[in-house]
Amino acid sequence: MENKKVYIETLGCQMNKSDAERMYGMLEHIGYTQTENPKEADMLIINTCSIRQLSEDKAYSQIGVWGKMKKSKPNLKIVFAGCVAQQGGKSILKRAPYVDLVLGTQRLYELPNLVKRIENGERVVSVEEKPFEESDIQINRVKGINAWVPIMEGCNNFCTYCIVPYTRGRERSRKPELILAEIKKALAEGYKEITLLGQNVDSYGKDLEEGQNLSWLLRQINALEGKFRIRFVTNYPTDITDEVIDTVIELDKVCEYFHIPMQSGDDYVLKKMNRRYDYATYKKICDHIRSRVKDVTITSDFIAGFPGETEEQFENTLKAMTELELDYSNTASYSPREKTVAAKWVDKYIPEDVKTERLARLNEHNRACCLKSNKKYLGREMEVLVENFEVRKNGDKVITGRTRNNKIVHIPCDRDLTGEFVNVKITNARTWYLNGELI
Ligand code: SAH
Ligand code: SF4
Ligand code: F3S
Repeated sequence: MENKKVYIETLGCQMNKSDAERMYGMLEHIGYTQTENPKEADMLIINTCSIRQLSEDKAYSQIGVWGKMKKSKPNLKIVFAGCVAQQGGKSILKRAPYVDLVLGTQRLYELPNLVKRIENGERVVSVEEKPFEESDIQINRVKGINAWVPIMEGCNNFCTYCIVPYTRGRERSRKPELILAEIKKALAEGYKEITLLGQNVDSYGKDLEEGQNLSWLLRQINALEGKFRIRFVTNYPTDITDEVIDTVIELDKVCEYFHIPMQSGDDYVLKKMNRRYDYATYKKICDHIRSRVKDVTITSDFIAGFPGETEEQFENTLKAMTELELDYSNTASYSPREKTVAAKWVDKYIPEDVKTERLARLNEHNRACCLKSNKKYLGREMEVLVENFEVRKNGDKVITGRTRNNKIVHIPCDRDLTGEFVNVKITNARTWYLNGELI
């Protein structure tokens, strides 16, 4: 078989990155090898994200550039995959006539069959909402210590701002046998951290046998041999069960880390967002977890400038961030998404300059929260899983890794200890990281 090269550009979240690892694996099976250089590729895949307009725009500008490459390389195949593909379907072929294949997220596993068709000169769109059955495939994971493992996909929540339910379909769980087999393989390959992925990991198992839920799954994974860490993202605030909290406390491999997006600290805005909790409820959940899980890190997501958000309502978000002492938050300004409910409230849109200004204040609060959170660990001894080693320009040799509760730590060290667990004393706390020394 002729050796062809494929390059994938991924623009989205961890789930998208995980999809890319699966695409590389499937394509290798049919004779494509992975390249880091788009110029030498025979096939270019853009793996898109549509969470905000900006991410969608990036996808179109990137394939615009690739479309031009096709003029001097007519056999070049261009694949438009990911969340924008799932949603845009056929319209993408019109907008970008040089695209050979539009591959929706729900059709990921159909890729090898479809590639054969485009190799024969067809132009194909596959975005049916019915998921293409997953098969036992090879996964070409990103090198490193962390392996992403999707456990469920989709969302039934329909928050009024969010496109994900339209791009990832309804919630469904992957079979535990498949998940466990995949994890065993990753561990055998030397990965030291398993991150379970899902838009709402708390929904895991709702469509499976009685008793198969997130904590059950965590127990199965924890029982696997070897020293490694287990993480999971993302939790929906009111869906986190006591059983899951108990599991985190009890199981040695499961890390003390929860990512629980709050979105807004204002009750009225939360209602308009169709989130199923108010501030007091979120606070109770957060306090409850903190009181039970020692040294737990709780991170969140916030949106600034949701349609109709008043200055006072926005300030409630700032207050919430500070009052809850959130350890870190992802922040974004509201971006209207086609099909979503909130996008229709055009008369309530917040002007761009106000959104930008609110986002800046949100980020400032976030920085203060992060620094405060990091300072809690000054002088403490912590276990770090080393992720990389570098020799800096000034000659300093440094290893970098994470604590169980997901804090980044830089440590002076002469040797490359990547993949090892080391004990460290924290000597300095900065906004985005800690410094430590080996003990
Ligand atoms: N399932 C997760 C988050 C998925 S999307 C949850 O329930 O929270 C990741 C984050 O993107 C969201 O938490 C939200 O903060 C942000 N986001 C989603 N839609 C957005 C939009 N239209 N504009 C700005 N940010 C958005
Ligand atoms: Fe989007 Fe809400 Fe679903 Fe999260 S829970 S993916 S924010 S609709
Ligand atoms: Fe992820 Fe973006 Fe899709 S955040 S689920 S790649 S819309």
